[in-house]
Amino acid sequence: MKPLIIGNWKMNPASRREAETLARSVRRGIAGSRRVEVAIAPPFPFLESVGKNRGSVALAAQDVFWEQSGAYTGEVSAAMLRDFGARYVIVGHSERRRIRGEDDAVVNRKIRAALRARLIPVLAIGEGANAGGEVVPKAIGMQLAGALAGIPKAALAGTVVAYEPVWAVGTGNPDTPDNATRRAIYIRKLLADRLGRRIADSIRILYGGSVQRANAASFIAHDIRGMEGLLVGGASLKADEFVGIVCAVAGRGKG
Ligand code: PGA
Repeated sequence: MKPLIIGNWKMNPASRREAETLARSVRRGIAGSRRVEVAIAPPFPFLESVGKNRGSVALAAQDVFWEQSGAYTGEVSAAMLRDFGARYVIVGHSERRRIRGEDDAVVNRKIRAALRARLIPVLAIGEGANAGGEVVPKAIGMQLAGALAGIPKAALAGTVVAYEPVWAVGTGNPDTPDNATRRAIYIRKLLADRLGRRIADSIRILYGGSVQRANAASFIAHDIRGMEGLLVGGASLKADEFVGIVCAVAGRGKG
């Protein structure tokens, strides 16, 4: 499957002008790269400007609210995101789980809302800071089960799961490629048990956590179905670094 690389800008950059410049540089840098699908997830206020400057780059949102409309001050609906041209929406990012207290039940409602609006959810899962050994498969299994509970199997075809161990996010301390591949295989097995092989095979699994140009290609498995893309935070804020990541995965050298 074509690798998917999503740049998660988080609460950056500071201005619309910088967001436009960054989006344009990424667009120019990756032009002609058909072997990788690239998406950018800017903050909500920049969705429109990035949307206008994105070229073939897909638009993603960093979050969504679960209701469709109404008295929910400060929230943004899936239909609004779709109307701005978003294709993907990240749901359950570890920063939202930690800072905003989002649990698997909330994540579940957000996935449903995304699917209803025909947005592709990018479900972020990953074990917490102190988890090790045996705890990891259990944590991943529980997050997946909670996030997907009761959602019709067929609706999940073509969606995305991002494995981001919390200890690797924003720390400069990535997981090892071998470990990431093992996690991808395990997540795909859990998905197959729950959804059936055919739907599980249609779901791309991404790795996230301290991805940089220098390590990006090593996470992508070629001979087996391991990680099929990347969720990139900090490194997506520097156009040359992000373009370098895309080029490395596309096999075009250092970009
Ligand atoms: P990072 O963030 O690349 O800065 O570690 C990844 C993410 O939060 O998606």
